[in-house]
Amino acid sequence: MTPVMNRQRLQFAICLATVLGMLALLACSGGDTPQYANPGAGSGDTAPSTVIVPALSEPAQAGQAAFNANCALCHGANAAGTNLGPPLVHKIYEPNHHQDFAFRNAVQNGVQSHHWQFGNMPPAPQVSEADVERIICYVRELQRANGIFDDVAGLAACQP
Ligand code: HEC
Repeated sequence: MTPVMNRQRLQFAICLATVLGMLALLACSGGDTPQYANPGAGSGDTAPSTVIVPALSEPAQAGQAAFNANCALCHGANAAGTNLGPPLVHKIYEPNHHQDFAFRNAVQNGVQSHHWQFGNMPPAPQVSEADVERIICYVRELQRANGIFDDVAGLAACQP
């Protein structure tokens, strides 16, 4: 084998390694789980840190009880997330991106996994409509206290 051929082989090998490396990068950075900024609940998609719990309004306190009984198993204490479900105190669930309707719909119909990789959320028919409103109020008050949004319009579900 001549030195020239050796160099060509080496160049080819480097080239191939570079392409494979880029493919691997693409494969890892792609996927369905977008990386969102997460000011309120830690920086990772699945690893929320501490959620600040504000002084809750009356409907929010009732919502907290209903949430703990029906949602916290997956969404965690203070909606901070668990390994079964995402944090709801998270930028992607702010009122403009996931309006209150998204909560009513999630409870009524369940959720097909789309933002995360926890799997689907089953419907929760045992939760009354009134309790869903209180749960929304609770989550919105948590979100607001954690800087997810700042206008009072987002607290509509807390109005009597
Ligand atoms: C068995 C686990 C589980 C329980 C219990 C559960 N959830 Fe979920 N929930 C999930 C998972 C997982 C997702 C994320 C689906 C995705 O987008 O990948 C989710 C997503 C959501 C969303 C986002 C919906 C959307 O449009 O993207 C809302 C709102 C929500 N849950 C509210 C609730 C409320 C309120 C309760 C209690 C009444 C509750 N969840 C109980 C697992 C659960």
